[in-house]
Amino acid sequence: MSIVKINAITVPAGSGDELARRFAARAGAVDGAAGFEGFQLLRPTDDRSTWLVVTHWQDQASFDAWVASPAFAHGHRGAGAAGAEGHAVASGSELWSYEVVDLPRPGG
Ligand code: HEM
Repeated sequence: MSIVKINAITVPAGSGDELARRFAARAGAVDGAAGFEGFQLLRPTDDRSTWLVVTHWQDQASFDAWVASPAFAHGHRGAGAAGAEGHAVASGSELWSYEVVDLPRPGG
């Protein structure tokens, strides 16, 4: 069962386009990470300023290994995150951890 790690990024009004541009030009370094199953960048459509980077992983160990790897630093070199060179487009971020609930199929 895969796990879901969400980076919830607070983006000041007016900076959303820049965040989207950065992701469009992203390194792609995560794509080859062991246990990585994919991600989506979610833009708020209400008046929230929280964008979500929803990532799926095979297990906790895969996620931990990526965060500790050079690929994480490389994928964030322009992000203004810890250790990054670029100026921050986010004014804050939070890591949220979830798992998919395996529900019985209705009627079966
Ligand atoms: C420390 C807080 C973080 C901030 C401010 C941040 C922000 C960003 C930004 C702006 C980018 C676009 C690339 C760039 O500009 O260099 C990016 C890439 C990315 N972020 Fe984060 N991020 C953070 C931590 C995380 C965490 C904890 C996760 C996982 C849940 C994550 C998932 C990703 C992924 C998958 C990419 C694409 C990387 C690639 O293409 O290799 N980020 N992040």
